[in-house]
Amino acid sequence: MLNDKLHSYIEELIPGREPLFIEMENYAKENKVPIMELVGIEALLQLLRIQDSKKILEVGTAIGYSALRMAEALPKASIVTIERDLERIQVAEEYMGRSKHGEQILLIKGDALEVEELVKGQAPYDTIFVDAAKGQYKKFFEIYSKYLKSDGIIITDNVLFKGLVTESEIESKRIRNLVKKIDGFNQWLMNHPDYHTVILPVGDGIAISKKKR
Ligand SMILES: C[S@@+](CC[C@H](N)C(=O)[O-])C[C@H]1O[C@@H](n2cnc3c(N)ncnc32)[C@H](O)[C@@H]1O
Repeated sequence: MLNDKLHSYIEELIPGREPLFIEMENYAKENKVPIMELVGIEALLQLLRIQDSKKILEVGTAIGYSALRMAEALPKASIVTIERDLERIQVAEEYMGRSKHGEQILLIKGDALEVEELVKGQAPYDTIFVDAAKGQYKKFFEIYSKYLKSDGIIITDNVLFKGLVTESEIESKRIRNLVKKIDGFNQWLMNHPDYHTVILPVGDGIAISKKKR
């Protein structure tokens, strides 16, 4: 969202990471797995530190990159993360097995729309991080916000969808429909009577929602 030069400037200021994280970033690049980009994940981790999250729910594990980064940043936190793609589950489990932070993570295998009972069993959560199928964001929010602590926050990634939310002429019908859904979700979320929400143009756009008192 920032111009490229500023974005690279901030990226270059970010200190180095554990070798396993670099390996995961390379794996994601080579295998086209959409993990959170650097500036975005740093912003997420800082929010979690400020929140002092002890229990985090993540919707969308992919290969476990953000889950392991959250575990490293918050050594006292436990993370419940949901993934439905079998190949990614296998890769995530391998990385979690190799990482010293893996023990903080519980991976729930299945569709987030179908595993509510398992997620409920670990509730309540200080933070819910939604980073899965963009067309289903409203459903994820409605299902899982029930399990958020009263002072908790919900962070939703990709709400600006590479800037496409402002594009009126999009050739692909699939992308056009997705953009319409994301825009609908953003409008709904910003006007939600129970939450204060701010959208930050960081990474792919993150929405931070906090329950009203
Ligand atoms: C953007 S990736 C997650 C990236 C990860 N949070 C990271 O930054 O390392 C989204 C993942 O959500 C998964 N996903 C999408 N819809 C899902 C659903 N309904 N239930 C479970 N997983 C889902 C996809 O298979 C994909 O691996």
